[in-house]
Amino acid sequence: MTPHAASEMTEALCRRAAVIPVLVIEDARTARPLAEALVAGGLPVLEVTLRTPAALEAIAEMAQVEGGIVGAGTLLTPADVEAAQAAGARFGVSPGSTPALLDAARAGDLPLLPGAATATEAMALLERGYTVQKFFPAEAAGGVPALKALASPLPQIRFCPTGGVTPANAPAYLSLPNTLCVGGSWVAPKEIVAAGDWAGITALAAEAAGLPR
Ligand code: 3PG
Repeated sequence: MTPHAASEMTEALCRRAAVIPVLVIEDARTARPLAEALVAGGLPVLEVTLRTPAALEAIAEMAQVEGGIVGAGTLLTPADVEAAQAAGARFGVSPGSTPALLDAARAGDLPLLPGAATATEAMALLERGYTVQKFFPAEAAGGVPALKALASPLPQIRFCPTGGVTPANAPAYLSLPNTLCVGGSWVAPKEIVAAGDWAGITALAAEAAGLPR
């Protein structure tokens, strides 16, 4: 898949909802009800980070949830791309980018949302055709003012800021012309997932889905 085609797909994903939940799954048994609860709340696009032993199994479980579109986050290597796709991931997210990772996503036809934190990183991705990027780590990299400043010289790049985004600061990000959606873990707090409080997750998702943009 060309980076241009990948960007068209990630743009469509970002337009589905204001928030992409960033999920760290400890127990694959929670994956399916968690995905169902998030989708029910209005957040269909889900990112499962490849940071736990349960992640790949969780992706496979979530891929079966009707109405959901599950992707893999924290992709670092070509092997991650391969494993994520084998598990059923329909898109990928990475905190930054390397030539090897970009080549693997392209070769595997995986729509990738690659991370950038600076103008130089964003330009390098643009040079490869990626017009939709993750701004990471959003808050630590300067937050709303930094992302706003990138819009003037780089208006052709759209971002999904992720990292330190909260219900409090999400509206400011979402009001920027170069922001399509935000990513965040706050819609699936560890304690609420561990307690199996799926109604609580749906309520958080509905609140996030209703954020103005
Ligand atoms: C992460 O690194 O887990 C994501 O960027 C999400 O960050 P958050 O927990 O600050 O939302």
